[in-house]
Amino acid sequence: MKVPFLDLRASYLELKSEIDEAVARVLNSGWYVLGEEVEAFEEVFADYCGARHAVGLANGLDALHLALRAMGIGDGDEVIVPSNAYIATWLGVTQSGARPVPVEPVAGTHNLDPDLIEAAITPKTRAIMALHLYGLPADLDPILAIARRHGLRVVEDAAQAHGARYRGTRIGHHGDVVAWSFYPSKNLGALGDAGAITTDDPVLAEKIRVLRNYGSERRYVNRVQGYNSRLDPMQAAVLRVKLPLLDAWNARRAASTALYRSRLADAPSMILPVEPEGCTSAWHVFVVRHPDRARLQDACARNGIGTIVHYPIPPHMQEAYASHGWSPNDFPLARQLADEVLSLPIGPQTPASAIEYVCETILDELSAR
Ligand SMILES: Cc1ncc(COP(=O)(O)O)c(C=O)c1O
Repeated sequence: MKVPFLDLRASYLELKSEIDEAVARVLNSGWYVLGEEVEAFEEVFADYCGARHAVGLANGLDALHLALRAMGIGDGDEVIVPSNAYIATWLGVTQSGARPVPVEPVAGTHNLDPDLIEAAITPKTRAIMALHLYGLPADLDPILAIARRHGLRVVEDAAQAHGARYRGTRIGHHGDVVAWSFYPSKNLGALGDAGAITTDDPVLAEKIRVLRNYGSERRYVNRVQGYNSRLDPMQAAVLRVKLPLLDAWNARRAASTALYRSRLADAPSMILPVEPEGCTSAWHVFVVRHPDRARLQDACARNGIGTIVHYPIPPHMQEAYASHGWSPNDFPLARQLADEVLSLPIGPQTPASAIEYVCETILDELSAR
């Protein structure tokens, strides 16, 4: 049996006729940048997130970067980031000119540990980057309370958390700005690069709308130096086909999670992901921890199962950030997690029989010695 980590073609085929129709509609419209398709998606996505505004962008990294830029955060400022983040969370900060200040996560949830944030705040701190890693919402209430106490902004990196819920409401409107990626593998994935922000703040929404289009409020009139980061109408049309199915596809991921949990409950030395009270994960990826990760990954590969490590090198150990002067042991938990995490297949088109096979393969391997 072959189990791909994720089968994007299967996702397309499940919706082929609707997607083909949407793409054809854009092709026939004769309008290929911004316009009605993008506006229509912004409206339904804002509504889905319970936010007042959505602004469609070219990708998720730009969403993070433009959110900070719209807040006036840049050179000389500091932004708190999780030490175990995906590199893009940090890149959003460094692109703005600000310095990322890493804070370790809670080991169980992989998300920012609110108890460690205040010690990292300095007079230069301007914002907290609350990343919902692997689809599980960060613990937003204490993070927002700390931000309020210290006059900081909160940017949520929700690139992996479409449809996730925190204390009953969907992610998308808790922080000042919520940044989204619709990279094809995401829970809500386009057929190419795409992103957005959602926010309740009309001023920030408008600033980001202007920044995405060269800094132009009116054609050929530029008050600020902006970017070209517009959501492609073709991608907007595809996303509008997929959005109504997001909850159902997330439910399939949750069902796969339940199956993994029941089969792997007694797997030796394995730590399974948690879903704390009050949080509903989007289960973007199903990440287990094991001290001998390489052995598990090899066993999966030998048996035709695709796995991925999210992520093998924490940002503070990346060469890209060598000039910042961190040493590998500055963030030991991020380092340990990077050595032990392994993502198993959990895509919405992954059948239960495939999950059973992954579990059997892992249990066979772990009982072999
Ligand atoms: C957590 C996180 N933040 C940001 C990004 C950046 O998104 P994009 O690839 O659309 O730039 C991604 C995904 O790639 C991500 O997983």
